Amino acid sequence: TNRTFTMLKPDSIEKGNIGAILEKINAAGFKIVAMKLTQMTENDAKAFYAVHKERPFFNDLVTYMTRGPIVAAILEKSNAVEDFRALIGATNPEEAAEGTIRKLFATSISENAIHGSDSDENAAIEGAFHFAGREVF
Ligand code: GTP
Ligand code: MG
Repeated sequence: TNRTFTMLKPDSIEKGNIGAILEKINAAGFKIVAMKLTQMTENDAKAFYAVHKERPFFNDLVTYMTRGPIVAAILEKSNAVEDFRALIGATNPEEAAEGTIRKLFATSISENAIHGSDSDENAAIEGAFHFAGREVF
């Protein structure tokens, strides 16, 4: 479909990169249809990343994602999920292409600046996890 879900992760807020990252998202043609500053609880992060619960980095991931505020947003564009994954780049910023958001703003694979949904189905689930219907425009 034409929507995806993103989070600017706590490191992006800590480093003062909200504006610069939103500028890249805007320049790539994504329209913001929902957005807020929020903080995930431990239970939120465990549920959001439940697919990774058996991974060795799961506890570090939960600690990272709950340590401070995030910017959550729903974005609209044709081919949104795939195009947004291309815009943010590889999970590991050392492997991310030049000009991608993770290449520009991520610190490491464990502090990688931004999330992008990996399927249309997950985009809908993740958007609904963070936003009520009246917060989506
Ligand atoms: P998201 O958009 O955040 O879902 O990232 P992704 O889809 O590119 O990667 P994936 O879903 O495989 O992993 C989710 C998140 O877990 C990553 O974005 C990282 O924050 C973290 N992560 C993944 N692999 C590692 C790892 O090897 N070590 C650590 N510490 N964190 C990892
Ligand atoms: Mg993922």
